[in-house]
Order: sequence, then C-alpha cells, then structure tokens
Amino acid sequence: MAKCSFCSGKAIYSKDRTSFCKKHFNRFFIKKVEKVLHMSKLFNKKVLIAVSGGKDSSAVAFALKKLNENLASSRKNRLELFHINLGISEFSEDCLASVKELSKLLNLKLHVVSLVDITQKSLEEIAKNRLQPICGICGTIKRYLFNKFAFENGFDFIATGHNLDDEALLIFNALISRNITNLVENRVFKPSIPEKKLVGRVKPLYFLQEEETLLYANINEIPYSKKDCKYSKKKRVIKNREILSELEKKVPIKKALVVLPIKLSSYMKDQKKEEDYKKCKLCSYPTIKRDICRFCELIRVEK
Ligand code: AMP
Ligand code: FES
Ligand code: ZN
Ligand code: ZN
Repeated sequence: MAKCSFCSGKAIYSKDRTSFCKKHFNRFFIKKVEKVLHMSKLFNKKVLIAVSGGKDSSAVAFALKKLNENLASSRKNRLELFHINLGISEFSEDCLASVKELSKLLNLKLHVVSLVDITQKSLEEIAKNRLQPICGICGTIKRYLFNKFAFENGFDFIATGHNLDDEALLIFNALISRNITNLVENRVFKPSIPEKKLVGRVKPLYFLQEEETLLYANINEIPYSKKDCKYSKKKRVIKNREILSELEKKVPIKKALVVLPIKLSSYMKDQKKEEDYKKCKLCSYPTIKRDICRFCELIRVEK
C-alpha cells in the first residue's frame, strides 16, 4: 500500500502522483472547498445549503460546517439546510431520513418543504403528457423552490452539491450543442440580484471529483442516502481528449468546436444587453425571455 506523500502514513487516495492519508485527504478536500469560498467571497453570509440527502450535498454541509469552525467570528457564515420532499416513494423517504440525521449531526437548522403540499400535484402528474424528461422538469421545480425559499427568508447564497464531474459534463454538453450561455457563464458562483428576486448560487464542490466526494463522505461517516432516484439518468465523466475521436462518430464535435470562437466573439459583443431577465406575470420571480416562468407554466396554468 502506498504511503502518504506528506506524512508517510497509510495512503487512502492517490492523484497526480501524490498520495494522501485520511488526515491529508481531508485537508486536500477542504482546501478545494475553501478556494470556492474565496472566489465567491462567501464569508459572513447567510447560506442555504440545498441538501438532497445524497453524498454530494451532504458533503457540502459537512465541509462548510468544518470550515466555519476555523473562521474568525466576523467571517463565519450562517448555515441552514433546505430539503424538498419530492414524494418519490421510498427514495424520498430515505433522503428525508438522511437529511434529518445530517441536521442533527451538524447541529444545523433544517427546513423541509413538500412538493405535493406546494403544488397539490405529484411530480408524475406534473410531468404527464410533457415532452421533457421527468428529471429535467424536477430540476426546474427544484431550482425555483430553492430560489423562492432563499429569497423570502433573506439568504445571500444557495449552496448546491454539483461536483466537477457534473460540471464537466454540462460544459461538454454545452460544447456539443453550441450552448454559448452555458459555456461562458461563471459556473462556480453567481451573485444575488435582489431587485430581480434572484438569490446567489455557489457550488463548493466545483473543483472536486465525484470519487473524491464519495471518499470524503465515507471516511467522515457523513450520513447520506445510497438510493438512486428511479428517474435519474446515470451521469458519466467526460474525458475529452481520449474520446473525441470516438465521439466524432456519434456527434459532430469537431465542427461544434471550430464554430465556437466565432459564436463566442459575437456573444461577447451582445453582452452589454445584460441577461434577459423578466418578471413572471404570475409570481413575479425571474424568468428568462418568457412572460410566465417555467414553474408557473408547469404548475399553475392548466393545459
Ligand atoms: P441534481 O439536479 O439532482 O443533480 O441535484 C443538484 C443539487 O441540487 C444537489 O447537489 C443538491 O444540492 C440540490 N438538490 C437536489 N435535490 C434536492 C432536494 N430534493 N432537496 C434539496 N436540494 C436538492
Ligand atoms: Fe428529481 Fe429524480 S430527483 S426526478
Ligand atoms: Zn498524511
Ligand atoms: Zn412564475
């Protein structure tokens, strides 16, 4: 078994020819989270951690709490947890049990809302007869509810468990589909725009891989649910270089890449227009380009 590169203790993880024992792996992990805190100036803020019950967002809560312990009192963040009970049978019950355990362990206040109570409909009913996959609709609803709750309760930031693998896949997909907005926008954090009822976003695990988060959760015995949602698609890591030629057989990746700089430069010229946020005519929360936001369209407008 390899030895830790820092203390010669027993290594539990190796990366780029560096090996880490438990203590030094924890240090490595926290440093990566700390980097995001500095980039987003996440100090002395009221932060709502969106916890799904899964390993990633549970690790975010654990790491932010640990970091808080070492900050001067004027820089400590006020952390609270937020969970949406999606009403997906045993999966949601298991997730709820995990976030309750996490809240107790970390001594952080937990807010739980129920999708069915809010909308009077189950996720399945909302998604019925719609073309978009159910997990996409679920994502729209979750983002809306995080923002609304955080705005109404005076939070400065919403922290989510998106990790490096999630983000790499998204950017890769943005490349393939030439989605310039997804490609150029800052994915680590977004500041609040209070006049638009938009609460800031931060992704503390942006620089951490999925396997690193899993290891962190396991070695620190962080409670999390091991169940997968029956609707979710398995996300895969995309390593561009190795699979670029393979991919070209399936999608026109090379063409997408060469038109990218051209599209980017014209997009940058248009940027002065600011983002096209409008107010939803039904709920007054932000919507991009539409008159009625996607949430209201899904929930309130009868077809
Ligand atoms: P997902 O879209 O399921 O990959 O989730 C992305 C992030 O949203 C997670 O890392 C959590 O921070 C948050 N999240 C997902 N599901 C929930 C939920 N049911 N309640 C609260 N936060 C959630
Ligand atoms: Fe939303 Fe599975 S968690 S559809
Ligand atoms: Zn060590
Ligand atoms: Zn609306």
